[in-house]
Amino acid sequence: MQLQKNISLKPYNTFGIDVPAEYLLPVDDTDLLAQISEDASLPQRRHVLGGGSNILLTKPVEGLVLQNRLKGISVDREDKEHVWVKVSSGEIWHSFVLHAIENHWAGIENLALIPGTVGAAPMQNIGAYGVEARETIDSVAGWHWEEKEFVTYSSAACRFGYRDSIFKHELRDKLFISSVTFRLNKKPNYNTSYGAIEQELQKMGVQELSIKAIADAVISIRSSKLPDPKQIGNAGSFFKNPTITIEHFELLQTNYPHIPSYPVSETMVKIPAGWLIEQCGWKGYRRDDTGVHEKQALVLVNYGKATGAEIWNLSGEILRSVMERFGIELEREVQVW
Ligand code: EPU
Repeated sequence: MQLQKNISLKPYNTFGIDVPAEYLLPVDDTDLLAQISEDASLPQRRHVLGGGSNILLTKPVEGLVLQNRLKGISVDREDKEHVWVKVSSGEIWHSFVLHAIENHWAGIENLALIPGTVGAAPMQNIGAYGVEARETIDSVAGWHWEEKEFVTYSSAACRFGYRDSIFKHELRDKLFISSVTFRLNKKPNYNTSYGAIEQELQKMGVQELSIKAIADAVISIRSSKLPDPKQIGNAGSFFKNPTITIEHFELLQTNYPHIPSYPVSETMVKIPAGWLIEQCGWKGYRRDDTGVHEKQALVLVNYGKATGAEIWNLSGEILRSVMERFGIELEREVQVW
């Protein structure tokens, strides 16, 4: 085991926040998980770090940070229509998307360029451009710290919701996700319904639709709107898009006739949090090294030396102003450590 003590987590979180971890241990082999369970000399407080692309570090991290470095992609089985692909949770999500495209496996092309590792896909039920990971996740396997064994969860058992799953609730801190099995399609079922994709495909002059063309369009849209964490620290969408009742929505429409919305059910609609935040005047806001991205108000950024506490405080001010103006409570999407 390569246990390191008092290590800065700055290189390991896309916000680029500089706080130390008491202990850091890379996990590059699933056999290590049983050893860690048995080793009483290691701190019992454990945190699992994937790509560090959805966390805000607000203070030094006590206990043991396990850095997921599990790698491997293999085909489990296939039939005429589908292929079941088992992917180790430490694989980089976007590399897996590219691998799927090269192999003509369809279903995750709309999720190109989402930062992070494969293990975060079920945790967060990552989603973009009209597609969510749950649509292709067949099962999730992980080491259960209390049961001290590997357990497999069917897609139904994962209880996926919008940016949500059992791994954020009952199984929080209880499971180290080791692999995810995806059921991908041999025949693509193109999803270009998300407005910007069609426009982008036209702009690119695409004549014949393909999963590669869709991924290229998504990559182009994402790169134009979302800051690259290598240049400006960020963790993607900081808040979830809130769901409100139709009555509440209609009331808001009287003052804001152009308020955007997506239907959720007969009684509820989803409002883009980025719009709400922009209306409150935050878009492009900067205070010292903390700010709100100039092209997408849902993304909070670290221009260099921001602390997690500063970003947390700014997110609180944003929450309060959206509540005051619209009566809508935003919920943070990032995990706060
Ligand atoms: N909008 C504004 N101002 C802004 C940003 C957005 O008015 O500054 C409004 C516009 O009306 C725009 C609408 O919000 O048409 C939607 O914006 P966008 O397409 O950028 O998507 P989003 O709802 O802000 C969600 C996901 C993203 C995902 C995109 C594309 C959440 C929390 N975020 O953002 O996911 O990439 O859709 O599908 O659901 C992430 O989770 O980290 C993430 C980046």
